[in-house]
Amino acid sequence: MKKAGLCLLLSLLLLLPGCAGRGPEEEHLIRVGFSQVGSESDWRIANTASMVAALSEANGYELLFDNAKQRQENQLLAIRNFIQQDVDYIVLAPITESGWDDVLQEAKNNHIPVIIVDRRIDVADESLYTSWVGSDFLAEGRRAVRWLEAQLEAQGRAEEKLRILHIQGTYGATAQLQRTRALTEALAAHPNWELVAQLPGEYTEAKSYELMREFLQSGQEIDVIYSENDNMSFGAVRALEEAGIPCGGEGEIMILSFDAVRRALELCRDGKLSLCVECNPLHGPRVASLLQELARGGAPAKLTFVDELAFDRAMLTDEIIRDREY
Ligand code: AHR
Repeated sequence: MKKAGLCLLLSLLLLLPGCAGRGPEEEHLIRVGFSQVGSESDWRIANTASMVAALSEANGYELLFDNAKQRQENQLLAIRNFIQQDVDYIVLAPITESGWDDVLQEAKNNHIPVIIVDRRIDVADESLYTSWVGSDFLAEGRRAVRWLEAQLEAQGRAEEKLRILHIQGTYGATAQLQRTRALTEALAAHPNWELVAQLPGEYTEAKSYELMREFLQSGQEIDVIYSENDNMSFGAVRALEEAGIPCGGEGEIMILSFDAVRRALELCRDGKLSLCVECNPLHGPRVASLLQELARGGAPAKLTFVDELAFDRAMLTDEIIRDREY
């Protein structure tokens, strides 16, 4: 391929500024390589939009963006590409917790600070990343469990048998590990709660819909669906509706969902989802302020957790839904 064609292709792939080198007006920009997990969910789309808006040229950044399409090997390639291009900082939204030691050691050897956003990483040497910002996924899971306990208590069903279907996100992702951990703790604390099945929904609506359809054909009965993100809940609701099985109402299947994107809040208001546990994707400004602090020579906090809520139908107002930013 001719050099101009190759240059155009690379620019499209990584949103590079071009092959002609940096002009004087770009010299002052902070160059950031951002490796994003993919575009698997409404949450992720909102997260990407927040990051791209915050790390804009108008805000003083030159952003090299890579969408890994839910594959860790793509993230490893993107990070090595950023290192080769000698970016000032790398921002990583990791798909899973493990597998980062070698590539982050390479970034460290090249003196490129790394910020982790959203999910956590599990590395032997904590100095391989500078800071992390994201959600407390275990607290989210426990929030869902506490709501369910209170609900059952209020309905006089606390001692009754409860059959739970668990739809899980990408295995090994912090959001999956910690939300699953909260449910596992609850199952151990409630001998009358039964885990009927676990389905690997991979955080996508399509996968959850397909698995839910199969599950419903088995004829097993359930009382609760604990679904580790909103898009998987959307898939489950669609499969249930097609099968003529009601959810959300008195005595019907309760769906506990994570993220609380606007579409989920609407379904909750309409009585289809019973609980929306918030997971805030608007990390762009948080990452930008960490980068600014680093650029000023400061030492930002190692870990920053964002505050989050949960909503059921009784709490939801039209204003909350209207003002939802994602
Ligand atoms: O890591 C955050 C999770 O990833 C969100 O709950 C989910 O929707 C996304 O894909």
